[in-house]
Amino acid sequence: MNDKEFLHSLEKAELHLHLEGSLEPETIRELDPSLSLDEIQGHIQYKGFAEFLQAYVWVSRKLTTPEAYGLATLRLLEKLAAQNICYAEVTLSAGVILWKEQKIEPIFAAIQEVARRFSGVRIAWIFDAVRQFGAAAAERVFQIARDLKQEGVVAIGIGGDEVRGPATWFEQLYREAADAGLGLTCHAGEVSGPQSVWDALQIGAQRIGHGIHSIDDPVLLRTLRERDVPLEVCPTSNVRTGAVGRLEEHPLRRLWDAGAPIVLGTDDPALFQTDLLQEYTLAAEVFGFSREELTALAANSLKYRFRAG
Ligand code: ADE
Ligand code: ZN
Repeated sequence: MNDKEFLHSLEKAELHLHLEGSLEPETIRELDPSLSLDEIQGHIQYKGFAEFLQAYVWVSRKLTTPEAYGLATLRLLEKLAAQNICYAEVTLSAGVILWKEQKIEPIFAAIQEVARRFSGVRIAWIFDAVRQFGAAAAERVFQIARDLKQEGVVAIGIGGDEVRGPATWFEQLYREAADAGLGLTCHAGEVSGPQSVWDALQIGAQRIGHGIHSIDDPVLLRTLRERDVPLEVCPTSNVRTGAVGRLEEHPLRRLWDAGAPIVLGTDDPALFQTDLLQEYTLAAEVFGFSREELTALAANSLKYRFRAG
């Protein structure tokens, strides 16, 4: 079996993946035929993290109806199936939906209808609030997540700008979500230092989105290991947003060698022009992961999912 076949054959899940960030330019064009592909490419160019977030919002604004979200879900499921991904926890930017003054319930009904009809990839949902929009906006998101728990929402998270919205704002809300039986993840330590990851742990996060700056704090690394809190590491994302200068400087290998639990993810595959097989390929080719280690990474992606079984 060659390397490509080996990675394809691994039983694996995708746990850090934003629906909106999976929207390919061709699908955006289907949604808004007034735009040429060149114009779309112009809107999704960015330099640095702040501009990346703006591009992400621009893409999100192209999703104007429940049907548009349904189409995005269908295209994503086709991509996951082609990579032999059996299960995905997909993050929906529910905070952005409310900010756009859309209703979450019909959108969720549309995406669930598509997911139900698609056999081969099981899917569960993480509702994400936007850190810099504050606790009141997040409270609405998490309340709806609780209401839709029986329909396939397994967890909540916070994303966006970790500098302008500290995790500690959300401590009480995280506790209430946990009490309601939802899993807790949290983007942290992506562009900020280890303290941001400590804050995420303090509010009860069971997984950390990115968390790459944990590498700068040996006590934090030990704590992640001891508490068995995995980092959802997305190397291509980190280079494309400027969170890491060059791929060769990415701490993936050092985090792994330090014993931090790790799952690989893509974050926003269309915006970063990657997919999960590509992230595994980078782990092998740039960071020297052996087949045994790649198998362990894939096993982690199943082990650390929020939905049991
Ligand atoms: N939303 C989508 N991608 C994100 C990222 N990499 N960091 C924070 N929020 C995000
Ligand atoms: Zn993310």
